[in-house]
Amino acid sequence: MKNNPLPRLDNHPEIREQLLPHCRLKPGEIWDDPLGKHVIGCCDATDDQQVANVMDGSRAVLAIHDPPYNLVAFDLRSINEFIAWCRRWIQNTTAILASDASLYVWLGADQNDGFQPLPDFMVMMRDQPYKSRSFITMRNQRGYGTQKNWMAVRQELLYYTRGAPVFHVDAEYTDIPKILRGYYKDVNGKKTENLERSKSDNIRAGNVWVDIQQVFYRMDENVSGCYAQKPLKCIERIIEASSLPDDVVVDFFAHSGATLLACEKLGRRCATIDNDPVYAEICIRRLERFRNTGHEGWQNGHPFETEIPSFCDSSTATENENVRVEPQQLLF
Ligand SMILES: C[S@@+](CC[C@H](N)C(=O)[O-])C[C@H]1O[C@@H](n2cnc3c(N)ncnc32)[C@H](O)[C@@H]1O
Repeated sequence: MKNNPLPRLDNHPEIREQLLPHCRLKPGEIWDDPLGKHVIGCCDATDDQQVANVMDGSRAVLAIHDPPYNLVAFDLRSINEFIAWCRRWIQNTTAILASDASLYVWLGADQNDGFQPLPDFMVMMRDQPYKSRSFITMRNQRGYGTQKNWMAVRQELLYYTRGAPVFHVDAEYTDIPKILRGYYKDVNGKKTENLERSKSDNIRAGNVWVDIQQVFYRMDENVSGCYAQKPLKCIERIIEASSLPDDVVVDFFAHSGATLLACEKLGRRCATIDNDPVYAEICIRRLERFRNTGHEGWQNGHPFETEIPSFCDSSTATENENVRVEPQQLLF
């Protein structure tokens, strides 16, 4: 089987340098989609002028943001600085959202540091023109931690709205089976228990999502090199719940282009930015590849194979989480 991944780019600055000459966008530049559907910018989410350039006067009904919260976890930025930084891209989001709009923000909670940045972010959001709507948890199949604490397997997603945006409850129906036996009920005179009644098409995910597979190298949607890729299934769920076909959806932290690709699949228009030219290029390539081949990513391959056929150094490959880790079985 082919095994030609790009190592995690956050751990390999030298490889990032090799890729830079192959990137089409420089900071501040915007890629115009030849099909006129999406916009991809190599832009800074905190720069109001760059954000305005990307939007070119259009308004989005949905924002899905996944900022790099490890800046706090790894002590690269104090919590106050981080929150001040968040406030700036939240304000830039508010400036380009429609009056009826939804905002989803993925955020970490460092259990060794007062669960930051989640609580201070929530407090900051109380001054912003949004209503809090739901606190969603997505369950990972693999986790991290020690033998002395609960294994961390959750990802947090905050849902806010302003005005009265759409919410399609159909998007929430899933194939999640019921987990527990033991709740008995009479149906048509027959005693049935929970698991028996779970074979319904209408089970709602609620705000704990346990049915989403983390991305790993055997999946078609895998984008090696990216260290924080969200699965398409969760992004598609958000988009279907909170937007209509042809609506504009924004994502200020594009990375692997998950929101972009989900928009392409679901007939929405995406405006997305990443301040790193390499990730902006990966997004462009992922969209082009999907249009040309129907593939959602690079299972066992990588986005720069034409220019750099292979990264053969096995020491770098083993550090690539997308390569190394097999998912555990789902545990319910
Ligand atoms: C956690 S990742 C987003 C993952 C994404 N949701 C996905 O599924 O691929 C965060 C991304 O934000 C980008 N980024 C960091 N600071 C930024 C800024 N000020 N403006 C725009 N993008 C930024 C990083 O380069 C990184 O690619």
